[in-house]
Amino acid sequence: MDYDLIVIGAGPGGYEAAFEAADLGMKTALVEKEETGGTCLNRGCIPTKALLHAAELYRSMKEAEAAGVCAKEILYDPRKMQQRKREVVLQLRKGIEDTAKRKKVELIRGTGTVCGEGRVSVRTAAEERLLTADRILIATGSRPIRPPIEGISLPGVVTSDELLEYEEPVGSLVIIGGGVIGVEFAALYQALGTQVTVIEAMPQLLPNLDRELAQSLKMLMKKRGIAVCTGARVEAIRQRESGGLVCEYTADKPDTAEADAVLVCVGRRPYTEGLFAEGFRPDMDRGCIRVNERYETSLPGVYAIGDVTGGIMLAHAAAAEGRNAARIMAGRAEAADMRWIPSCIYTEPEIACVGMTADEAKAAGIDADSRKVPMGANGRTVIAGGERGYIRVVSERETGRILGAQMMCARATDLISEFTQALSAGLTVGDLARVIRPHPTFSEAISDAVRG
Ligand code: NAI
Repeated sequence: MDYDLIVIGAGPGGYEAAFEAADLGMKTALVEKEETGGTCLNRGCIPTKALLHAAELYRSMKEAEAAGVCAKEILYDPRKMQQRKREVVLQLRKGIEDTAKRKKVELIRGTGTVCGEGRVSVRTAAEERLLTADRILIATGSRPIRPPIEGISLPGVVTSDELLEYEEPVGSLVIIGGGVIGVEFAALYQALGTQVTVIEAMPQLLPNLDRELAQSLKMLMKKRGIAVCTGARVEAIRQRESGGLVCEYTADKPDTAEADAVLVCVGRRPYTEGLFAEGFRPDMDRGCIRVNERYETSLPGVYAIGDVTGGIMLAHAAAAEGRNAARIMAGRAEAADMRWIPSCIYTEPEIACVGMTADEAKAAGIDADSRKVPMGANGRTVIAGGERGYIRVVSERETGRILGAQMMCARATDLISEFTQALSAGLTVGDLARVIRPHPTFSEAISDAVRG
């Protein structure tokens, strides 16, 4: 065998698995047909957050007078924002490639196809190589779904992949799908002065998230001038003769929304095109590769992790699965606790949650206590002139055991880790109440919430 392990796909799931495997002494190859870093680094989390950072800076500067800072003629330059975004991506990509070198993980460029037991062919425009390994790990991720809506292929109808590359301001934008990508892009473009309309088929934004968080976000988005239509399904997109696009949708009654561009973000699907040779395919379930609790597919020696297996499509979940899978292959205990996976949404203020909501605890028959602390009384929030927000903590009434937390506030995406750790360690509200949190910080609101 050429390798102990061949990983196909160098996103966060794939490269973390390869690094862990190398640390455990396995001779590892990492096959990638595009850029190192996958969707997260090249077309997802990192570029989106780089642009959101610039947009929030622009908004803060415009609102700085409230803090006594006067600036005139505040402008943004989409080309420079794109340039900065590219620099961030390049720097992080170099970090991953340097780590691969240091850990002696061989980065192989080309399209990988699993063509038999322990065999992977890697194709480039110039050649095809056959590699062999004891084990193969699939970490090929996912691609945006383009739903079969009339007009979906018109120019100006784009997915997040293309919109992230726009170098010109967008006057108006209709977003089809009020999921995670939809609300983050709504926040980004609204902050840059674009007229944004979000059309979501389900009765609430972020249908997979807590109702209260979704409702709070909807109110905030409307207050900022974003048009939000929930319970509305887009049926067709048409080109107007005078330029621009019209989305036809039905909520209570048929209606239309006009825009210069339409962003389609109605979910992602596993990426398996060309991944398996004829006659050597694993069991699949609605396009997702099926795996057992050891990340094994139905093919001998072939494992899969991350978006390609369906489930929670998050970079940090894929990375944790990747590390666990490598450890299982090496006969070690899993390192990451997969029971508690936090969700984070980079709106302003940020949204984060982990574990159970009060509704979910009730549905599970648990007698739960739910404490909500508004951020209006938090010193640091008042200093920052923050929007109203809150932290809600759900615990078991009898024992005080933490069951979950939902928050919408500054730094929510960092603060949530305190609760993920509490869940993993089985801590109670009493345990969290004993901790001294510095003053003045956003985290003091956690003390308020757990002290009751
Ligand atoms: P999503 O599944 O979060 O949301 C898609 C939304 O589109 C749903 O709410 C659905 O009801 C709606 N929809 C479907 N068909 C529609 C139609 N015809 N008209 C109107 N609405 C329609 O998927 P999204 O936002 O595309 O994100 C893809 C994946 O990427 C998700 O799994 C997400 O978790 C991940 N992601 C995570 C981020 C984060 O953690 N901060 C950021 C961006 C993406």
